[in-house]
Amino acid sequence: MSQGKREITLRFLAEPGDVNFGGKVHGGAVMKWIDLAAYACSAAWSGKYCITAYAGGIRFVQPIHVGNLVEVSAKVIYTGNTSMHIAIDVQASDPKVMKNRLTTHCIVIMVAVDEEGKPTSIPKWVPQSEEDKKLEASAIRLMNMRKEIGEEMEAHVKHFK
Ligand SMILES: CC(C)(COP(=O)(O)OP(=O)(O)OC[C@H]1O[C@@H](n2cnc3c(N)ncnc32)[C@H](O)[C@@H]1OP(=O)(O)O)[C@@H](O)C(=O)NCCC(=O)NCCS
Repeated sequence: MSQGKREITLRFLAEPGDVNFGGKVHGGAVMKWIDLAAYACSAAWSGKYCITAYAGGIRFVQPIHVGNLVEVSAKVIYTGNTSMHIAIDVQASDPKVMKNRLTTHCIVIMVAVDEEGKPTSIPKWVPQSEEDKKLEASAIRLMNMRKEIGEEMEAHVKHFK
């Protein structure tokens, strides 16, 4: 199986329609950009259609202002049989100054699916640099921690069944 591109960055201006009642960019708008970047990154890596299985660890570090140049960077940090763990950083800057600041960070898990919507295998990503090996090890630790959180959440999920 051939390997695709591991990293992508979306760049655009935050528009007036993205703003909340407080005058800053809406958290929901940021989450949509994160989902778009995760999709583009996972589709580019796998060469397949992908869907969002999980998004977590989202941290809104600083607000984004209307007119800011926004950069949403997405990169694969772990691959399973069908899933890709994607680390996302959202940075923003005043385009007059072009000094990037981190505004949001999170992890999204995308799953490649076939024509019937069933999970389908993807190329393995193998970290080469020390930094990438650390990122992969961290993704594996987070995966194990999420299993525990998932078991705890079961009680709440059943409530709505
Ligand atoms: C994502 C989905 C296809 C997984 O289906 P499933 O029956 O759980 O499939 P599997 O058990 O074979 O899991 C497939 C992969 O998804 C991963 N996965 C499934 N649920 C997950 C979760 N909650 N968190 C993280 N990873 C998850 C599994 O670990 C597995 O990865 P691997 O193959 O790399 O080991 C299914 O849950 C789904 O369709 N969800 C809805 C997706 C959606 O509507 N997204 C929003 C719009 S795009």
